[in-house]
Amino acid sequence: MLKAPKLSFRQAATIVQYITGPAGSMAGPERIRFVISFIMERQTKWLGAGLNREVVMEVFEAIEKRRSIRKYRGEPVPEDLMNRLLEAARLAPSSSNTQSWKFKVITDLETRKKMKDLALGQKFVEEAPAVIACCVDFNAFGERGKEVLKLVLSGAARPSLGMILRAVRRGKDRDKDPERVVVNGVINVSIAVEHIALEATELGLGTCWIRAFDADGVQELLALPDGVSVLCLMTVGYPAQDPPPRPRVPLEEIRI
Ligand SMILES: Cc1cc2nc3c(=O)[nH]c(=O)nc-3n(C[C@H](O)[C@H](O)[C@H](O)COP(=O)(O)O)c2cc1C
Repeated sequence: MLKAPKLSFRQAATIVQYITGPAGSMAGPERIRFVISFIMERQTKWLGAGLNREVVMEVFEAIEKRRSIRKYRGEPVPEDLMNRLLEAARLAPSSSNTQSWKFKVITDLETRKKMKDLALGQKFVEEAPAVIACCVDFNAFGERGKEVLKLVLSGAARPSLGMILRAVRRGKDRDKDPERVVVNGVINVSIAVEHIALEATELGLGTCWIRAFDADGVQELLALPDGVSVLCLMTVGYPAQDPPPRPRVPLEEIRI
């Protein structure tokens, strides 16, 4: 959770000095932009320097603390927390900002039982109070041209008109390449799913990725719309276990 940083007297005085003092030839909006970017840059450095260390540590803490949880307490996940998990997914990066994902939250016990049967009988799929079916939305790739346009209009990209037209044309062709669409679709959803897992850790919730399941069966059970394919399931709930870290290969072995 982001906390407002506490400023020391010296830091506050520096900010005031920059706002009120002479700033060369800058005036009006230019000066305001300068002051805002100065404060943001300083704040980042101060946070990193220990002013409010927990803010800069929290992502890594969640990364370290996350475990695959396969035992859950019974109580349901409150709706606002579930929304927060989906919000974490919504903010994930995606290729050309396609946001090619859809999520279905399943809490109903009967459906969870059926999903357990479709997931090789993995009991915790039924026991977890919620299961998120994380899906690739292949329909989103047909929208690529529009997404490029949105990026340009938002100011995130400033290519020439010729470049935009070429990018949209190339994009359309590329989107017909099934391998690219599938790989990008899987990458996009995977990032969003891990956002969910890390945010869940921050909220004291446990999760587990599930890929061992009958995808056609789940597709049918959940009556997923055309073009939407389930990639993985993610169980969510309050952990009833606190497993130690699972083994990882040492850092030097992953460097090539
Ligand atoms: C793509 C993927 C598929 C997985 N599928 C399953 C699964 O079907 N059942 C299961 O119990 N765990 C599954 N897991 C969890 C892994 O077993 C787990 O991440 C790994 O053993 C490391 O443990 P940790 O997550 O606690 O660090 C899956 C993880 C990933 C990333």
